[in-house]
Amino acid sequence: MRMYDLIEKKRDGKSLTLEEIDYFIDGYTKDEIPDYQVSALLMAIYFQDMSEDERAMLTSSMVNSGDTIDLSNIAGIKVDKHSTGGVGDTTTLVLAPLVASLGVPVAKMSGRGLGHTGGTIDKLESVPGFHVEISGSKFIELVNKNKVAVVGQSGNLTPADKKLYGLRDVTATVNSIPLIASSIMSKKIASGADAIVLDVKTGAGAFMKELADAKNLAEAMVAIGNKVGRDTMAVISDMSQPLGRAIGNALEVKEAIETLKGKGPEDLTELCLTLGSQMVLLAKKAETMEEARAMLEENIANGKAFEHFKIFLTAQGGDASVADDPELLPQATYKVELPAKSAGTISAINANDIGTSAMMLGAGRATKESKIDLAVGLVLHKKIGDDVKEGESLLTIHANDSNLDSVKEKLYQSITITTDNVETPPLIYDVITTK
Ligand code: URA
Ligand code: CA
Repeated sequence: MRMYDLIEKKRDGKSLTLEEIDYFIDGYTKDEIPDYQVSALLMAIYFQDMSEDERAMLTSSMVNSGDTIDLSNIAGIKVDKHSTGGVGDTTTLVLAPLVASLGVPVAKMSGRGLGHTGGTIDKLESVPGFHVEISGSKFIELVNKNKVAVVGQSGNLTPADKKLYGLRDVTATVNSIPLIASSIMSKKIASGADAIVLDVKTGAGAFMKELADAKNLAEAMVAIGNKVGRDTMAVISDMSQPLGRAIGNALEVKEAIETLKGKGPEDLTELCLTLGSQMVLLAKKAETMEEARAMLEENIANGKAFEHFKIFLTAQGGDASVADDPELLPQATYKVELPAKSAGTISAINANDIGTSAMMLGAGRATKESKIDLAVGLVLHKKIGDDVKEGESLLTIHANDSNLDSVKEKLYQSITITTDNVETPPLIYDVITTK
């Protein structure tokens, strides 16, 4: 087989076979095929697209390029949830204990935050003592016992994706549906879950800014998952404004606690119930979305979800008393209000810029090496569609540095107040089950 022929075939709009896809993924992972030939093939894929079969084959091939996590020693149907990345996205902190409280095993591998988006592990580490450095056998033991555990990424998962992503980044081929969909799905499938729920975000703070692109990506990922034998569903949700009210690590843990007690923000609660219903459905603990939702609502109302959060924290060394007294979480020294400069209605809270503001406070990492401050962040008092009086607080800044001039300026730029009528964006645009 010659790489030249694969490039020519794809350039001319033809489909690659499984053998050809395996040849290029295997050869590239082993450094046997040079970057310039793979670059040419990626550009050909960018322009000519891939069929559903090719996308599924590419995904499987990338899964096979490295280690895979074996969760077969965990009883039951393991359902994973993946978000394409958002700002103030507190859903995993709520969903993991909530869904586990219904007996659905949640064996979660999570990452740290980078750039304007946060990471679940950083958030959990704001609970004193909580740690994710647990062995593979301990991880499995905890999921069997408590139905929930979270670990950091380990092992050599999908090395082909790492190399390809690096190359795509410098060859203007990141933005391609078959390449993004196979990249995300290969990592999820290598992580071992039997079923996958995807939260594809759209809007200013999302990777996919346009709804049509988010929908294409969601459909592509659902098709791949189901083709490779993992039941997959997707929700397309709004990320034009941050989710919930809290942005920042400890602040989001507090928000998750409130949500697990049934007192959380409406949008975060609704998204958790929708994603959670899909997880319960895929785990075959309910027959319909309605039944699943009722079960989740019941475990919030009767306190079981909240109690399960404490069990989860304790099992990984965390001080569960923070759940009863969130003041025990890291606290920032300064709490500063941001007053509205004029009266009107909020028409935009740009999630991307809000995420960057939180990063400037120290809540997120500008580079992989940056240290983060778990206590700092923002709490929004207003969301899109809310009326505001002049001088009324838009949000509270939680900071450990008293010089907030540049953050305040960035925040004012990211919030728009108008005297016109404002349409609030829907929280959930679409639910995709099968293609
Ligand atoms: N996120 C991924 O993991 N892969 C992509 O290709 C794009 C976003
Ligand atoms: Ca939030």
